[in-house]
Amino acid sequence: MVETARHDAWSAGDSCDRYMGRWRRKIAPLFLDWFDPPTGLDWLDVGCGTGALSAAIVAQCSPKSVLAIDPSEGFLQTAQAALADERIQFRLGDAQALPAKPGSVDVIASGLVLNFVPDRTKALSEMRRVGRPGALIGFYV
Ligand SMILES: C[S@@+](CC[C@H](N)C(=O)[O-])C[C@H]1O[C@@H](n2cnc3c(N)ncnc32)[C@H](O)[C@@H]1O
Repeated sequence: MVETARHDAWSAGDSCDRYMGRWRRKIAPLFLDWFDPPTGLDWLDVGCGTGALSAAIVAQCSPKSVLAIDPSEGFLQTAQAALADERIQFRLGDAQALPAKPGSVDVIASGLVLNFVPDRTKALSEMRRVGRPGALIGFYV
């Protein structure tokens, strides 16, 4: 098969959702129940994919803002089409070089992502860099 003709389920939002969507939309609210952050905060969703965790943050946590980043343009397009909320901003980016200013967010969350990141130490230090003093960082894999 020619590489350019291959369908990549990991970069096409619709097919990835059919593959994993049922349970990842169930686990995000459970994680947020456990994480239980205050309301009115600036969030960063690292590796937002098609937006399962971002949607749950908006539905459950009354955020001031959510910056949702992912390296896949296909996933970001799917998330943007599904989540029309003025508090959410989607941006192309990598966990190892977060596209956010130092000390700019209160809560950093990441769902089902860190196992895909080659340099997890760098990703965690990036989360600390962009978090304000006392920022909450939580993730699940
Ligand atoms: C299983 S999906 C999870 C998506 C979403 N967080 C959720 O809960 O449904 C894994 C995501 O990790 C993203 N990803 C892979 N490598 C990444 C990296 N280096 N930095 C940030 N995100 C990455 C993928 O593009 C994909 O959207």
